[in-house]
Amino acid sequence: MAGAKYKAGLEGVVVGPTSVSEVTQTGLRYRGYDIQDLAHNACFDEVAHLLLYEELPTAKQLADFRARIQGAMALPTPVGLAVANMPFDTEPMDVLRSAVSLLAHYDPDCLDNSRDADRRKAERLLGQLAATLGMWAQKTTGVPAVRPDPKASHGGNLLAMLLGRHPSELAARVMDVTLILYAEHEFNASTFTARTIASTMADLHSAVTGAIAALKGPLHGGANEAAMKQFLEIGEPANVDSWFRECMAYNEANPDQKRLIMGFGHRVYKKGDHRAAILRDWSIKLSKQTGITKWLEIADRLQAIMFGEKGLYPNLDYPASHTYYQLGIPIQLYTPIFVCSRVTGWCAHLMEQYENNRIIRPLSEYTGPPPRRLLPIERRQAGGVLVDAGEGKHYVA
Ligand code: ACO
Repeated sequence: MAGAKYKAGLEGVVVGPTSVSEVTQTGLRYRGYDIQDLAHNACFDEVAHLLLYEELPTAKQLADFRARIQGAMALPTPVGLAVANMPFDTEPMDVLRSAVSLLAHYDPDCLDNSRDADRRKAERLLGQLAATLGMWAQKTTGVPAVRPDPKASHGGNLLAMLLGRHPSELAARVMDVTLILYAEHEFNASTFTARTIASTMADLHSAVTGAIAALKGPLHGGANEAAMKQFLEIGEPANVDSWFRECMAYNEANPDQKRLIMGFGHRVYKKGDHRAAILRDWSIKLSKQTGITKWLEIADRLQAIMFGEKGLYPNLDYPASHTYYQLGIPIQLYTPIFVCSRVTGWCAHLMEQYENNRIIRPLSEYTGPPPRRLLPIERRQAGGVLVDAGEGKHYVA
C-alpha cells in the first residue's frame, strides 16, 4: 500500500504486546524472572508452569502439574499407530508436526480456545510431544522404552526416553537447562507464526503445527543440528582455522550462495546471546564428567575467529549442539527437542493472543506490473504482447 514503510524481515518492527517474556540487549526474562536465575535455581517443569500459569508453582502444584504431563505421555492409540507406521526415514521434525496435527482429532478440547482449555491442551502436548519423540527414537535407533520417573524433571525423563536409559544426575540437569533456555523468546519466527494462525481464531493444535513447521528451518531451530554437522565437518580443533578460511574463500567465489556459519548471529542480540553463555558453562561441567573436550575446544576457537573476523557472537543453538552431542543424543533429534520445550512458550503466547485478539493482517509493498487490461485468449502470446492503449500509451498483456 502506497505510503506505508517496509522493513525487510520486519526488523525492528514491534508487532504486538506480550507479558510472557522480555528480550533486551542485556538479558532475557520470563514473566519478570531472569533467565540466569531460572537456569540455576529452577527445573524445566517449574518454568513451564510459570509460562502457562503466569506464576512459579508451589511444591503441591508442581507435583500435580508433573503428574498431569506424565499422564499425557500415553498417546491415543490411533496416533501411536500412525507414528509407528510413518516411513523410517521421515524427518523427526515432520513426525512431530504430523503428530500434533493428528492429536487434534483426539483432544476433547480441540475447538475450545478458552484459557482453561488451552492450558489443558498445552499440558497434554508437553507430555505427548516427549512421548512421540521417545517413540521415534525407539523406532529409529533401537533404544528400549523407558518409563518416566515420577520424581524426575521433564528434561531428565525426555533424555531417558531418547537414550533408552536413565541418565546421570548432571546429564539430566544439563538437559533440563537446555529446555529452560529454549522455552520462550518473545516474537521469534515460530511464535509469530503461531500467533498469526491463532489470530484467525483457528485452534491451538493448528497454531502449534504451524509453529513446528516454522521452527524447522536452519535459520531458526534447525540451526542446532546444522551447527553440530559443522563441528563434525571441522573434526579437530587444529582444523578450525583452515576450515574457516576455506569457507570464506568459497563465499568470495560464490557471492550469491554464501555459506553461513551456523549457530552465529541473531536478529535481536547484537552483543551476544546470554543463553549461549549460560549453556556453555553447563557444557564445561558436563565435559569434566564425560572427559569429552574436543567439541568445546572447536567451538571456542571458531567463536574467537568469528568475533575477530565478523564481530558475530554465538546464539543458543551453538552450545546446544555440542552439549546434546556430549549427552549422546542423535543429531536429528536436536530440533525436535527444541519443540518439546518451546511448545510452552508458544502456548503461553496463544492464550495471550486469544484473549486480546485482532486478526494479524499487515500490508505489502507492490512490485508487480502496472495496471493493464485483459486480452481475449486468442490474442494472447507467451511472454506477452505490446498493446496500444491509445493516447501514445502501451501496456504488456
Ligand atoms: N554466518 C555468516 N554471516 C552471518 C551470519 C552467520 N551465521 N549471521 C549473519 N551474518 C552476516 C549477514 O549475512 C549480514 O552480512 P551482510 O551485511 O554482508 O549481508 C550481516 O552478518 C548482518 O546479518 P543480520 O542482519 O544481523 O542477520 P539477520 O538478522 O537477518 O539474521 C540470523 C539473523 C537468521 C540468525 C542469521 O544470523 C543467521 O542466519 N545465522 C545462522 C543461523 C542460526 O544460527 N540461526 C539460529 C538463530 S537463534 C535460534 O533460533 C535459537
